Amino acid sequence: MEIVPLADAEQVARLAADVVEGLVRARRGSAVLGLATGSTPLPTYRELIRRHRAGSGPSYDGVRCFTLDEYVGLPAGHPESYRATIARELTDPLGIPADRVHGPSPDPDQLATAGERYEEALRAAGGVDVQILGIGTDGHLAFNEPGSSLASLTRLKTLTEETRRDNARFFGSVAEVPRHVLTQGLGTILRARHLLLLATGAAKAAALAAAVEGPLSASCPASVLQLHPHVTVLADGSAAAGLARRDHYREVYAAKPAWQGL
Ligand code: F6R
Repeated sequence: MEIVPLADAEQVARLAADVVEGLVRARRGSAVLGLATGSTPLPTYRELIRRHRAGSGPSYDGVRCFTLDEYVGLPAGHPESYRATIARELTDPLGIPADRVHGPSPDPDQLATAGERYEEALRAAGGVDVQILGIGTDGHLAFNEPGSSLASLTRLKTLTEETRRDNARFFGSVAEVPRHVLTQGLGTILRARHLLLLATGAAKAAALAAAVEGPLSASCPASVLQLHPHVTVLADGSAAAGLARRDHYREVYAAKPAWQGL
């Protein structure tokens, strides 16, 4: 795992955008991007859009996207559904057509098979090349709350009260935050070829430290990252504040050979 402590959220966004663009250029139209929603990736998405509009970004023709999760129980087209959110915040501005952006389907009549069908869609696409991730204050990854199986696949889950309170800012109140979600499992996420975890702000410091320096445990779902061979963690100063070895991570990054990349 490579942990990169950075000065601020803007640096996190620039470096994350470099990783995404590098992949899109390298795969020339066949890249499969794994997208997170929530607040943390928004500066990265804005940076990608800025570069795209400035003409310095790559072509997104042929790029396919898979979101991590989706609320269950919102009316179709609800602005806070993750399908609507990712279209608004990233894929529409980049010109990626809706039929190349996939998410678990919250259709109430087919919920029992939604997980299996999403796993099949991911397999058929050849898997995710770069998966952007955020981390919950309770250590959740996607919507795998504490106690989730480290081998889990896409399925229906129930949000904790802590996560519903955290996400109430996107809705009118906690009561309006759905209880149920469909989420890629931790085992699903581990299949992506490169995991890019973004963490910004002091509220993430304890969860990030537990995930990368604590024991591997279902009590901290993000600790599953320790099992993956290619993880990059981009953290701003506040989120990195709880890391016992942060000086070492800084030294490693400063001494990194340029040919290595992230
Ligand atoms: C979103 C997701 C969640 C968020 C996490 C952090 O698709 O899967 O795991 O990444 O809840 O959310 P923010 O970034 O809003 O703090």
